[in-house]
Amino acid sequence: MTDDWDVEAAAYDDAPDHGLADPDVRAAWRDLLRGVLPAAPARVVDLGCGTGTLARLLVDAGHAVDGLDASPEMLRRARAKVPEARFTLGDASTPPYAAGTHDVVLCRHVLWALPDPPAAYAAWARLLVPGGVAVLVEGHWGAGAGLTAAQTEAVVRTVHDDVTVRPLPEAVYWGREIDDERYVVVGRS
Ligand SMILES: C[S@@+](CC[C@H](N)C(=O)[O-])C[C@H]1O[C@@H](n2cnc3c(N)ncnc32)[C@H](O)[C@@H]1O
Repeated sequence: MTDDWDVEAAAYDDAPDHGLADPDVRAAWRDLLRGVLPAAPARVVDLGCGTGTLARLLVDAGHAVDGLDASPEMLRRARAKVPEARFTLGDASTPPYAAGTHDVVLCRHVLWALPDPPAAYAAWARLLVPGGVAVLVEGHWGAGAGLTAAQTEAVVRTVHDDVTVRPLPEAVYWGREIDDERYVVVGRS
């Protein structure tokens, strides 16, 4: 699995929603995150951070960011892209941070691939301070991979009662029209 992501790393940012090279796509993600995160500076952990594109947006917005990923090649790119953030090699299922240390847990397109999403989410929720926020961007893609919004909401509700689900069908997030299910789920402690 890690080897696969190491191989993917070189071309990962070529996808519009990965590299956010298009200013409109980048602005859409910046505004989406601004709408769900607390005011800066917040301490954010990006689990499965990939090449650090979202970490870059968050640091630019004034947040303090920890990034975790299992792929050394992804992390090498993330460190180059966001020298201000602190990146760690590790497993998002068991993030190596102390309880109650983060205002925000962010995870985009990783929960679905973990072996036990409810157990992972419980571990993530423990990282949050009281009043903290978990932001999960996930999807249920054409090939049947991923999690539906209802499935992700159910995972979040195993820990949090305050849950919002926002569909993300707009092409501006993806750099193209989509016909599958993509969304953000926010859980609040
Ligand atoms: C689809 S990419 C998403 C990257 C980033 N979150 C984004 O939205 O651009 C999946 C990332 O999760 C990482 N990953 C997969 N399984 C992981 C695990 N168990 N622990 C930590 N990172 C993992 C991969 O190395 C890869 O960087």
